[in-house]
Amino acid sequence: MGREFLEVFEEWASTYDEAVTGHDPQYRDVFEGYDTILNEVAQLARGTVMEFGVGTGNLTEKILAKDLQVIGVEPSEPMRELAKEKLPELALYEGDFLEFPLPDKPVDTIVSTYAFHHLTKEEKNIAIAKFYSLIADGGRVVFADTVYENKQAEEQIKQEAHELGYHELLEDLNREYYPQLEDIRQLFEQNGFHFEAKQRNKFVWLFVAEK
Ligand SMILES: C[S@@+](CC[C@H](N)C(=O)[O-])C[C@H]1O[C@@H](n2cnc3c(N)ncnc32)[C@H](O)[C@@H]1O
Repeated sequence: MGREFLEVFEEWASTYDEAVTGHDPQYRDVFEGYDTILNEVAQLARGTVMEFGVGTGNLTEKILAKDLQVIGVEPSEPMRELAKEKLPELALYEGDFLEFPLPDKPVDTIVSTYAFHHLTKEEKNIAIAKFYSLIADGGRVVFADTVYENKQAEEQIKQEAHELGYHELLEDLNREYYPQLEDIRQLFEQNGFHFEAKQRNKFVWLFVAEK
């Protein structure tokens, strides 16, 4: 469940770390400030951390550098291999937002960057309910991902991609499940979280949901 875009990462894994530096004009704005965004997520992590969609381990590396324990979950085998090369000490498991090995005690922080949009709205709701039961009281979810501020912003961003001839980006925006801010807020709030979000670049918002 929720793994429908894995093929993209089978192909993308080996060049992913190059893509986040913004060399592809279509994705430059998506990855603008990538390192700063990941640093901010890492700064907000505390205690035992569970990370979903680890990718090549760029966020993980920053959290491990804080001497926190990280339990990593990543469905793509090529991505897991790259993360393991970079971080041999990492506890990294095959799994996804919906199906993953359960930790033996509640975790304090759940983090993820550039990954939650792979789930449909219904799948996001199921995942968020799981997060609530997985997190210790007082714990938090800290995510950064593409979110549209509202319907108008969504239309404008897609229109701009069309006008710039960014067909690959536009196809991606239409294919995957990038939510509007109020939708994602509602999903977290209806599952019992206190939700706050801040925009970090044209596409990416950082959101913190406290239990
Ligand atoms: C754009 S990459 C982001 C990687 C990393 N978090 C980062 O910020 O650079 C998206 C990652 O999400 C993973 N992914 C795809 N579907 C997923 C799912 N259903 N659950 C968890 N991770 C998923 C992909 O395999 C990929 O590693």
